[in-house]
Amino acid sequence: MSEKIVVSGGAGFIGSNLIEKLIEENKFEITVIDNFSTGYKENLELVKDKIELIKADACSYKEIKNVFSDAKYVFHLAAFSYVGESIKKPLEYNRNNIDSLINVLNASKENSVEKVIFPSTCVVYGESKKIPIPESEYLNPNTPYGLTKQAGEFYCKFFTEVHDLNTVCLRIFNAYGPRMQSRVLSIFANLMLEDKQPYLSGDGKQSRDFVFVEDIVNGLIKAMNSGKKAKGKSYNIGTGKGTSLNELIEKINLVLDKNIKPIHGEVAAGEIDEIIADVSLAEKELGFKAEVDLNSGLKKTIDWLKKKDLKQSQKSYI
Ligand SMILES: NC(=O)c1ccc[n+]([C@@H]2O[C@H](COP(=O)([O-])OP(=O)(O)OC[C@H]3O[C@@H](n4cnc5c(N)ncnc54)[C@H](O)[C@@H]3O)[C@@H](O)[C@H]2O)c1
Repeated sequence: MSEKIVVSGGAGFIGSNLIEKLIEENKFEITVIDNFSTGYKENLELVKDKIELIKADACSYKEIKNVFSDAKYVFHLAAFSYVGESIKKPLEYNRNNIDSLINVLNASKENSVEKVIFPSTCVVYGESKKIPIPESEYLNPNTPYGLTKQAGEFYCKFFTEVHDLNTVCLRIFNAYGPRMQSRVLSIFANLMLEDKQPYLSGDGKQSRDFVFVEDIVNGLIKAMNSGKKAKGKSYNIGTGKGTSLNELIEKINLVLDKNIKPIHGEVAAGEIDEIIADVSLAEKELGFKAEVDLNSGLKKTIDWLKKKDLKQSQKSYI
């Protein structure tokens, strides 16, 4: 008999890539909950006949509670996830990200779900003194989005400790790949595709750990299959390599065979200098290792950006 998986936020960037991979395994029955606030039905076009898609708001317990019966695993990906937007809309971020998580944890507990996987983010670290950043580093988020994910991790641990619900949190670094929405990498690439100069916050020396969506999907599935050791824990999901935003622009230029120079501007609110994952714990305890290097991941992402309707990634969240 196939195992039931519930994916909240499955119509989004990471969720839709995860669902395609789970469907390939041919042993899961997948139910998706999404309210299409930032996601798209079209993202699920390739799998639409193989999943159950329910339009529902995870902030409403009434709307989602019945979906969890007989579920074995839950991926709670539904969230608002734009750092800059969260500074302007802290209340909306708090409501959406915290209420939805508590509902999903409650419904999972009530239905004896075996494991809940929760994607947190590298921005829970804020400006870290240690680079690469180990999971043991002090959490010091400097934006409402980061704060909701920090609280989210603590709620997961609370449900593990007090209700014995198995939860695993993944601190995902800078995700990119086909179906990504408006993030720094796709904003730069979209502008450069149109021969426009990208706008850089500050000197462009700030570095990021760009992790391709296929690797993130592998990390999520490793978390689903993890043993007892991972119960109630958080793991970094990154590559362990930093790339400055200046270097990123050079790499995009190489893929596009262009030589576009960025415009340097003021440092954006919530900007962090260096974010690079220490991935040794995820490697040791989950068997996770990122495989896709930035050059080949960029090519795949830019190929997708060239084909797709640009409206989607030009939505202004940041
Ligand atoms: N993309 C990244 O760089 C990144 C990095 C770290 C963590 N994450 C986390 O991974 C998860 C997925 O991110 P993504 O990049 O795919 O984002 P996304 O915006 O593409 O996907 C989120 C999905 O959740 C849905 N959603 C939001 N609120 C909902 C609600 N209340 N009820 C039902 N559906 C709702 C949206 O419609 C969308 O389909 C998020 O939790 C995000 O915080 C993303």
